Amino acid sequence: MKFSKVPSLRGEITVPGDKSISHRSVMLGAIAKGTTEITNFLQGADCLSTISCFRSMGIEIQNEGSRVLVHGKGLKGLKRPGSPLDCGNSGTTTRLISGILSAQDFDVILTGDDSIQKRPMKRIMDPLSQMGARITSLQNNGCAPLSIQGGILHGIHYASPVASAQVKSAVLLAGLYAQGETSVTEPYLSRNHSELMLKHFGADIRCEVCTATIRPAGELSGCRIPVPGDISSAAFFLAAGLMIPGSEIRIKNVGINPTRDGILKVCQAMGGDVTLTDVRKDSGEPAADILVRHSALHGTTIGQGMIPTLIDELPMLAALACFAEGETIIRDAAELKVKESNRIAVMVSGLSAMGADIRENEDGMIIRGGRELHGARIDSHLDHRIAMTFAITGLCAQGETEILGAECVNISYPNFYRDLKRCVSGGAFQ
Ligand code: S3P
Repeated sequence: MKFSKVPSLRGEITVPGDKSISHRSVMLGAIAKGTTEITNFLQGADCLSTISCFRSMGIEIQNEGSRVLVHGKGLKGLKRPGSPLDCGNSGTTTRLISGILSAQDFDVILTGDDSIQKRPMKRIMDPLSQMGARITSLQNNGCAPLSIQGGILHGIHYASPVASAQVKSAVLLAGLYAQGETSVTEPYLSRNHSELMLKHFGADIRCEVCTATIRPAGELSGCRIPVPGDISSAAFFLAAGLMIPGSEIRIKNVGINPTRDGILKVCQAMGGDVTLTDVRKDSGEPAADILVRHSALHGTTIGQGMIPTLIDELPMLAALACFAEGETIIRDAAELKVKESNRIAVMVSGLSAMGADIRENEDGMIIRGGRELHGARIDSHLDHRIAMTFAITGLCAQGETEILGAECVNISYPNFYRDLKRCVSGGAFQ
């Protein structure tokens, strides 16, 4: 797919439902008693992988488009699947489902695509094994395919070496079934959607600063989950609005959970004109409309506890920093290397090819903004966030930017190019 400079982006857009919340609503719905009604569910390939895994374990799930009904069978209602569970490209499916499977009285094999078979799973194998599950990496490389033999679990107090919501959630989900109390402490607070949703389904869970503690408390109850728009998808329009002269975009119904809203704070710290309107809360998750206008930006430093609140937005922020005066430093972000691609290496090579002044560090990048970018051929490495980042960057570069593997946006935002096209006034891309 090819992109070239556009004069401005204007209009109103509604981004699809939050990926993290969509996954969790199907998982908790499946192990709750009764029906869970999910609205604004993200119909991205990752969330469809979660649906398909639970259908293979005997859960009836009606997918009616943006509404999904999950007919849960209770904590012990899953059936042994007839074949390995395929998690596709989804790290969230693989890691969170492992927590649930660790407590089932059947064994199962968990696998996924080439990318998922390279991503680190030892981070969940360690705590789940400590709780009593038997999990092995079939290639003995700490990655999927995983063999999981569930059983009787006991609670642990786990000090996670990484601030990862996927690790935390895997342990908490296992903790639903464990004898005694299970807690997870992280170095910095990662997204807390699991904790909020577990509470909403009736679990006995409490949270203090960076520690979440769960106790088994009988069955969860099916409920209603309205999924807010995904701030990680909104991030592309937010950055585009700031970068492209003359732009003004209103992004409707975006989740602004404080464990996810780092992008808003960083854009504002860089001098971005970003305002929230109609702030509201439904089922524990806050949402708002976001109004963004083109702004003169300056560099900033992003690190430490801020990183988990914008981890998926860092590729887009690295590109945004090319349009800011002065230096932007991204540090404490080594986790970027183990996402769907090595997002530090891929961003540094792509932005360098477009003429940016960017250097790679062990745990981040340093960008000096202000140089005009030119088009280039960019390999998305089949990483959805990389494809979307370079599509936006291509709209502000001289000449043509070609993105290889552009269709991978179907993982988190199937209609991304259609929505982007709708906001373009006077320009074009094919
Ligand atoms: C997610 C957590 C984050 C994030 C991923 C979704 C989740 O991963 O990058 O896209 O839904 O829990 P980590 O837990 O590995 O940081």
